Amino acid sequence: MSGSEEHLSSSPEETRALGEALGRQLRPGEVVAFSGDLGAGKTCMIQGVCAGLGIADQVNSPTFILINEYTGRAGGQAVAVYHFDLYRLRSEKELEALGAEEYFYGQGVCLIEWPERARAALPPRRREVVLEYRGPQTRRIVLSSLSLPTPHFPDGR
Ligand SMILES: Nc1ncnc2c1ncn2[C@@H]1O[C@H](COP(=O)(O)OP(=O)(O)OP(=O)(O)O)[C@@H](O)[C@H]1O
Ligand SMILES: [Mg+2]
Repeated sequence: MSGSEEHLSSSPEETRALGEALGRQLRPGEVVAFSGDLGAGKTCMIQGVCAGLGIADQVNSPTFILINEYTGRAGGQAVAVYHFDLYRLRSEKELEALGAEEYFYGQGVCLIEWPERARAALPPRRREVVLEYRGPQTRRIVLSSLSLPTPHFPDGR
């Protein structure tokens, strides 16, 4: 883990603004995993990230097709932005069939909801955002960067 920051958001607007600040930092090839329960605010924050990447389109969760693609700008260049929602993913095989590796290790920016569904397939070098429900309007949001390979436990922990 190289650096982690914690925020307490007290409105969807605040979460979106945090996302926007993150979006402005992202560079081509970056992967960001957003974990948290249903309604924690993953999509809300990703809407901000997309705004920070200069995307004007309306961003909604890609519930049925698993991936939405947008074109944004990062570091002064055009970049493909892939928004994944893996909630309905049934297997790692299905993810493979989507060509996820090519997205995860490509030049685009990947924003992933429900990364728990595909832990083993995620690039070890990635950013993590964890959102936690703390009250009707309150969310704890922790941002961190992972740069080391994730340890492998043979029993699947
Ligand atoms: N501080 C906050 N930050 C983010 N969302 C908030 C906050 N307070 C209230 N909300 C509400 O919580 C909901 C978050 O919904 P959102 O779709 O972003 O969650 P999600 O984590 O993407 O859920 P899902 O797992 O179903 O995709 C919205 O209705 C939003 O208005
Ligand atoms: Mg969502």
